[in-house]
Amino acid sequence: MDFKDYIRVIPDYPQPGIRFKDITTLLKDGPAYKAAIDAMKELVKDKEIDLIAGPEARGFVIGAPLALALGIGFIPIRKSGKLPGETVEATYDLEYGNDRLAIHSDSIKPGQKVLIADDLLATGGTIATSIDLIKQLGGDIVGAAFLIELGYLSGRDKLSGIDVVSLVTY
Ligand code: PRP
Repeated sequence: MDFKDYIRVIPDYPQPGIRFKDITTLLKDGPAYKAAIDAMKELVKDKEIDLIAGPEARGFVIGAPLALALGIGFIPIRKSGKLPGETVEATYDLEYGNDRLAIHSDSIKPGQKVLIADDLLATGGTIATSIDLIKQLGGDIVGAAFLIELGYLSGRDKLSGIDVVSLVTY
């Protein structure tokens, strides 16, 4: 299946010059959504993984079903102020703007093997910050898996030493 056929590209959103990759057109198609999660599972099947962590919000619609498919737990990484328990937090830059991410302090035990999953690798800022938070908790990052990678933004370069896999590259 060519997943690009299901991803809608919207020009000049949210700012002029940005070609937004809209995955809602893939998500609403049950067989395509399932095929995408199955294909991502295939990309990481040889890894030993204890937990999947995914950043709000689109990381949830990829990370949670991937965790279910693998039969393991899911850890939400959220924008600051959304998690009710004790958190560790860090500020990060986006392709456009910046934000602050948080993770529950007790969500990962030291030494647990964590795969990060998200819909999109753009500049890599979100995932680099997510990795920082997971490492602060003592988690062992076994890789990062994306539905989409924007190769022209070189986000991979921010993730040196991390095994990065993606389903679709632009
Ligand atoms: C988007 C996307 C990734 C991130 C990629 O999330 O879902 O998490 O940006 O960009 P980066 O590689 O440059 O960091 P966004 O922060 O827009 O939040 P959303 O998922 O809630 O829309």
